[in-house]
Amino acid sequence: MSVETMRIENGFLQLIDQRVLPLAFETVMCRNAAETAEAIRSMVVRGAPAIGCAAAYGVALEARIAAGQMRPIFDATLEQAFSILAASRPTAVNLFWALERMRRLWTQQGHMPSDEVAALLFHEACAIFEEDIAANRAMGAHGAALLTQDARVLTHCNAGALATAGHGTALGVIRSAVEAGKNISVIADETRPFLQGARLTAWEMVQEKIPVTLIADNMAGHMMKSGAIDAVIVGADRIAANGDVANKIGTYMVAVLAARHNIPFYVAAPLSTFDLSAASGDAIPIEERSADEVTGFRNVRWAPEGVLVANPAFDVTPAELIAAIITEKGVISRPDRNTVAAHCSAANMNKT
Ligand code: MRU
Repeated sequence: MSVETMRIENGFLQLIDQRVLPLAFETVMCRNAAETAEAIRSMVVRGAPAIGCAAAYGVALEARIAAGQMRPIFDATLEQAFSILAASRPTAVNLFWALERMRRLWTQQGHMPSDEVAALLFHEACAIFEEDIAANRAMGAHGAALLTQDARVLTHCNAGALATAGHGTALGVIRSAVEAGKNISVIADETRPFLQGARLTAWEMVQEKIPVTLIADNMAGHMMKSGAIDAVIVGADRIAANGDVANKIGTYMVAVLAARHNIPFYVAAPLSTFDLSAASGDAIPIEERSADEVTGFRNVRWAPEGVLVANPAFDVTPAELIAAIITEKGVISRPDRNTVAAHCSAANMNKT
């Protein structure tokens, strides 16, 4: 069974509502850029590549609504759509990468009638979606080769089909290894406070009958020390030019533990997650989310009123803790400024 995180249904963007999984399976319909931005902000859809794909569709939906208008009106509508979508979440660079790709196409067609531009933008959003699935499949093939036959693999957050257009990045590597006949089992960190591991990764793996063991985040060190983990694979929200990786809060802690126990720590991410304008992880903006996510869950509150709360949604893992970054173009072993630059420029040169 494959998970359809998003699809176009009757001309609108239909998203699986990831806030209610796995207790309910519901979908949310987005009809324009504002509704798409709200779905991203409120985590109906989350995960770096999925956010990028959704944002591209958000632009395309708005363009369709404004199609047929004179260009100045159409262009003003699109400008507004871009700014609403860009403000939805700050850390995952795939969002800005996808918006930039849509903007480039739009601004290249200065004299084209608006309905033709709208058609091109819709086509481009579909291409971004399809290319993401192809990238995940390629990453899966490269990454699967790094896992041993019976690897017990710890993952943090959800970097699965739900976080992408399909197949997943970190979970895509696991899926591809299973497809290749490997006997992989997964250890899923629950991933406080939003519980992407407990709710989403566990759900995806159970759906596909890939053995998965759920642990609370503070159990990873004990599991590694007892020899229960052979490798760690996570996704990424933004990768700096020196190979530092921003990913879900708690990833850094896992990477430090993996280094302490000589367990390889892998990152799987498409090239759209690289931000070469960020010299290091220090330049990556870290989203601060609502205190409610830490003081309770849904309608249950467990922390006292009046307590101060910090809720950074991401952290940065320094490149030196990463054994390899897996992209659709291959594997960057021991990532640093030089290996990242070489990989990205070779990938750009090989673009058709
Ligand atoms: O806050 P989220 O759920 O959007 O964060 C998601 C993550 O941090 C994922 O690990 C990352 O986006 C990689 S997804 C393929």
